[in-house]
Amino acid sequence: MCGIVGYIGKSNASEILTEGLKRLEYRGYDSVGIAVLNNNSIDLRKEKGMFNEVSSSLNFVSAEGNAGIGHTRWATHGVPCKRNAHPHSTPEGDVVLVHNGVIENFSELKQELISKGHTFESDTDTEVIAHLISENMKSNSDTLDAFIKSLKQLSGSYAIVALLKKENKLYVAKKNSPLVLGLGENEYFCASDIPAMIGKTKTFLPMKDGEIAVLSGEGVLLMDMDKNGVKKETIEVDWDIEKAEKGGYPHFMLKEIMEQEHSVQDSLSADVSSALELLNKHEKIDIIACGTSYHAGLIFKYLLETRLKKKADVIIASEYSYSASPDSETLVFAISQSGETADVIQSLKFAKEKGAKSIALTNIVGSSITRMADKTIFMNAGPEIGVAATKTFTSQLAVIYKLVFPERDLSIIKKIIAESLKNKEKIKEYAENMLNKNSIFFIGRGLSYPIAREGALKLKEISYLHAEAYPGGELKHGPLSLIEEGVPVVVLSPNDNTAGKMMGNLKEVSARGAYSVVLTDNKQIEGQASASIPVVSVDDPLLYPFSLIIPLQFLSYYVSTMRGLDPDKPRNLAKSVTVE
Ligand code: F6R
Repeated sequence: MCGIVGYIGKSNASEILTEGLKRLEYRGYDSVGIAVLNNNSIDLRKEKGMFNEVSSSLNFVSAEGNAGIGHTRWATHGVPCKRNAHPHSTPEGDVVLVHNGVIENFSELKQELISKGHTFESDTDTEVIAHLISENMKSNSDTLDAFIKSLKQLSGSYAIVALLKKENKLYVAKKNSPLVLGLGENEYFCASDIPAMIGKTKTFLPMKDGEIAVLSGEGVLLMDMDKNGVKKETIEVDWDIEKAEKGGYPHFMLKEIMEQEHSVQDSLSADVSSALELLNKHEKIDIIACGTSYHAGLIFKYLLETRLKKKADVIIASEYSYSASPDSETLVFAISQSGETADVIQSLKFAKEKGAKSIALTNIVGSSITRMADKTIFMNAGPEIGVAATKTFTSQLAVIYKLVFPERDLSIIKKIIAESLKNKEKIKEYAENMLNKNSIFFIGRGLSYPIAREGALKLKEISYLHAEAYPGGELKHGPLSLIEEGVPVVVLSPNDNTAGKMMGNLKEVSARGAYSVVLTDNKQIEGQASASIPVVSVDDPLLYPFSLIIPLQFLSYYVSTMRGLDPDKPRNLAKSVTVE
């Protein structure tokens, strides 16, 4: 996820772009850049680093001109550095552009362009788009035709804003990546998100997938890929800046939960090919991770063992050196959203010293574990600001499923999540019943057990209530003594091969007076509980983790906020845990 902004009008573009980028920094912060058009020449300034340092050291606001584009980057292809920072330009500088998203066929396109004499300086997929447009302009006298032809050659997701040296126009396109137009008086804006344009206009036009816009001083032309004009209602937004940064949501956590429909899609586009090659060569896999990432690891272990018939262990990273004995036959699979978790770094180091090979799955390009592992997979979830991991968990799962089922069309995951997100409001009432409880239990079996653990972790970290998860069968071995009148037990009982036994567990806790909340799509079970939370049904039971986790994320969010807490900044916790 990156932040894009564009402007054309009568004011100084660089000031507007600089202000916009500052408000989009939450979308990416490893490098920043702007390009401003001035009398048929483009002033391009970019550098690795946080917005404040780069914008002042390169004196962004001194760039002159009334049209320009800007970008704050969250690396997906290539490490953070000046070369890989946006905007990207052809060597001749005829096409300069910014992009958010992932171009899946960029390697093929790059090879083709190289064979036609193009030379590249970055590792990004974005630079390829600039060259592609430039190449297509050679055979199309109309720039718009060349732009559309290029878009049709791209597969993957994109929000693109292109600036051409010879034209006072911005060419804008969107597919599976957000882009909003802002309409002012004789001035026009575009950005990945409304905050970038707050204070400049209140009138917005969110673009849909497959739409193209041409912005000039005269107005906005909105059309489809066949150049048919598109007419639609504008929206008026009167947010303050803080609300706008959170996309209109009161907290980043809620925004990030709602984003999952799109973030999993970007994760499903992740390049897993070379990691998969290494995975296929090994029969013994040690998965190491902490917290939420450990829960993703539990699901990976289940799938590796039951589907790929590989021997897999999942070990909490801080315990690895005490309990494991990796050797040259071992493949270590390290999962870490931040890529900086000290426990993971240390255990990876330990395994490497013993001769193990390694794969890292992370969200952060250039993070420490990517420099240690033999292969890295980036989950492409975009920055997660809320301390509690939400979208990065489903992104980890999406990548894991892609590794286990490389031939399968997994786009259904996006649909399951989109459906599950619709139940947001319904979850509030269940949260109310849990506000003042001392202890809350979560139970599940099979693939639902790691999700029960993740539900309990989410709840305890942001609501400060004691929450514990158990495999359903384990209750009778001890924890059942804690169940008495009114104790909440969240029962994960999807319609899969665990349903029969989970019904038994439900009866077991109900008989002791528990306040049982069942997460199910099984009508029979629904009637047996004190309350039931709807779960989206799936054709393949292996996909239930995606429909079970969303209600649990909402539940923890609502319990936290109803208790008057800030879920984005839970006490005593940090987003990146760099101490052992
Ligand atoms: C829970 C949470 C933590 C992290 C854990 C590992 O919501 O955020 O439990 O999952 O600290 O962090 P990473 O994945 O960055 O190694």
